[in-house]
Amino acid sequence: MAAHFRIVEVGPRDGLQNEASAVPASVRIAFIEKLIAAGLTSIEAGSFVSPKWVPQMAGTAEVLQAFAGRPGVSLPVLVPNEKGLGAALAAGAREIAIFGAASETFSRKNINCSIEESLQRFKPVAERALAEGVNVRGYVSCVLGCPYEGRVPTGKVAEVAARLFELGCHEISLGDTIGVGTPRAAREMLKAVAERVPLAQLAVHFHDTYGQAIANIYACMGEGVRAADSSAGGLGGCPYAKGASGNVATEDVVYLLDGLGFETGVDRGAVIEASRYIHAALGKTPRY
Ligand code: HMG
Ligand code: MG
Repeated sequence: MAAHFRIVEVGPRDGLQNEASAVPASVRIAFIEKLIAAGLTSIEAGSFVSPKWVPQMAGTAEVLQAFAGRPGVSLPVLVPNEKGLGAALAAGAREIAIFGAASETFSRKNINCSIEESLQRFKPVAERALAEGVNVRGYVSCVLGCPYEGRVPTGKVAEVAARLFELGCHEISLGDTIGVGTPRAAREMLKAVAERVPLAQLAVHFHDTYGQAIANIYACMGEGVRAADSSAGGLGGCPYAKGASGNVATEDVVYLLDGLGFETGVDRGAVIEASRYIHAALGKTPRY
């Protein structure tokens, strides 16, 4: 039997949060429908963040509500604080993601607080979510470099990942926010984190600034990682990480995994259809 690999599609959130124009909820809903049709079962649907900070993610409640009660798919949403959690729960969220960083400056620029303050803020968020039966995922950003501080020590990445894991996150996604990692650095970072958090609970999240994302995923697979985030068509970026390019493209991750004989349940051609749809909505040319 082929080994399984879990793909977390982040196109409707990471893919759209940095676009110059906001995509209406109706288009985001149709995009998610196409991603579901492609066989993706974990699709980040948006964020409950301040619309002053990230206006592109306004309307996430409407997006979630469109999928209320839909079986077989998890639609995590980013939540930075208790206000966001309240809105996410009211919209029917069944999975949330809390998002921290391994870089102090990025933490302040992205969520307006220190790393320690962010972890204190996430604690009641995770507690309430878990008490209501809602799964909690965790992100660590800047795991291989920070747009403001440059190098980020692997020990700091491991510490923040471990703290998020202690809060009850079922999976910690390690984000190379600005896509500066290379396979050796990715492997070393992963090894340091795996000393604190079980490998089965780790996912990788590569942006593809220097075309290293697929190589980095492959290197991390060599260490035992079996989950990765990606975005249909390779859209993506963070408004608070200047120069960050798109996420690794889902269709490319599927191509890699198909070639390696892994089972993903995802149809690459159908992912490309979804990518074409969202590119047309954005007035952009898709890669395929
Ligand atoms: P703040 O200004 O410090 O918040 O922002 P505040 O608590 O002082 O509140 C200020 C105003 O925001 C108030 O409204 C609040 O009600 C409102 P006002 O009285 O001025 O009208 N507010 C909210 N509104 C809606 N939803 C909320 C919420 N919270 C407060 N949840 C805050 C702090 C965290 C809210 C802000 O910094 C924020 O929203 N940041 C989000 C940034 C973001 O979404 N970044 C992108 C995602 S991270 C990423 O892309 C990386 C990742 O992909 C992994 C990787 O690549 O590494 C995950
Ligand atoms: Mg990202």
